[in-house]
Amino acid sequence: MMPYAHITGWGMAVPERVLTNLDLAAMIETDNEWIVSRTGISERRIAADGETSASLAAEAALKALEVARLKPANLDLIIVSTSSPEYIFPATACLVQDQIGATKAGAFDLSAACTGFIFALNMATQAIRAGSIHNALVIGSETLSRIVNWQDRGTCILFGDGAGAFVLQASEEPGGLISAVMRSDGSGGELLIIPGGGSRYPASEKTVREGLHYIQMNGREVFRFATRVMTQATEEALEKAKLKIEDVKLLIPHQANQRIIETAARNLEIPMERVVLNVGRYGNTSTASIPIATCEAIQDGRLTPGDRLVFVGFGAGLTWGAAVAIWTGSFPTKRRVRPARYRLLARLRSLLLRLVRRLEGLIWGNG
Ligand code: ACO
Repeated sequence: MMPYAHITGWGMAVPERVLTNLDLAAMIETDNEWIVSRTGISERRIAADGETSASLAAEAALKALEVARLKPANLDLIIVSTSSPEYIFPATACLVQDQIGATKAGAFDLSAACTGFIFALNMATQAIRAGSIHNALVIGSETLSRIVNWQDRGTCILFGDGAGAFVLQASEEPGGLISAVMRSDGSGGELLIIPGGGSRYPASEKTVREGLHYIQMNGREVFRFATRVMTQATEEALEKAKLKIEDVKLLIPHQANQRIIETAARNLEIPMERVVLNVGRYGNTSTASIPIATCEAIQDGRLTPGDRLVFVGFGAGLTWGAAVAIWTGSFPTKRRVRPARYRLLARLRSLLLRLVRRLEGLIWGNG
């Protein structure tokens, strides 16, 4: 029988530093009233110097593993969805693999902007359903504050930093992710883009001078696209799952803009009490926003096993998608795991591997 992919662990990590709209108004020509009325955002989190997309991802991952009571060494797969990876390569997922000591996991990054978490969830689900793996870690992590132009009031007010993670595990019991829709339209690629620093416009003094390494966005076009596809993708995913919107306990949308979310909810005829909304406190954390919103919904006691929920998102690419899940909660059987201890062991292991590599280099003459 085809196994199901259940969400058995969840965790989030956001930086401590809060940047309010008032702080922004002291930096650029904007005001709290404009930002709140157009976006619903009041504040966002900004990574500290030592915090990176990998460190936030690792923190969220260890919390998710603790909830799932799963050791990092039992992971088969790590997917990190991010638009602010630490490097072009190696993948941020490999840095996370090393930081948490997931010794047996294959790790790679997935680039689908704000829709990335849904795409990654679906990829991990399909790998579990095909029987090729048992345990997967799916993470959305961003430090968008590092790639946003702080002089551009049209974009810098929107974004924030953070990470969220899910553990997915195989089980014969029906449940978990039961349908997904993934779509893209590259003809709209330039509507939301970081043009510089890739192979098209390699980093140079000119690309930096022209600000090509920053997020550039056509806000109005993205807004129109977003309201249309959120409704469409949700309806398609529900149809695939043979469910109706009335069956859905919670809609967990990508947190880009409160007006976009409210428009989608209106079109779908789902009351806002059944929609998770936390964009006001974190801004748009891109691919991290759906798992962060899920973690907060769980903290607030809004999900119980058996509930049906929909994740829906849109973003650069253009990309959009939705997934329907039956909420499981963690498998109740196993002993506690202690993430902090694993992190320390992982660090020791990583140092040892580096040392061995250096010694081998010396012995074989490649050092
Ligand atoms: N403060 C004050 N005024 C501003 C600001 C600001 N921060 N930003 C723009 N304005 C001004 C503009 O200059 C413009 O003035 P003008 O009419 O004199 O030219 C006026 O406000 C209206 O500007 P618009 O861009 O038309 O404002 P709009 O109502 O469209 O809101 C916004 C802009 C909030 C960006 C909206 O278009 C939006 O949310 N779009 C979707 C963006 C989004 O979700 N992006 C993320 C996608 S997910 C991903 O992949 C990362």
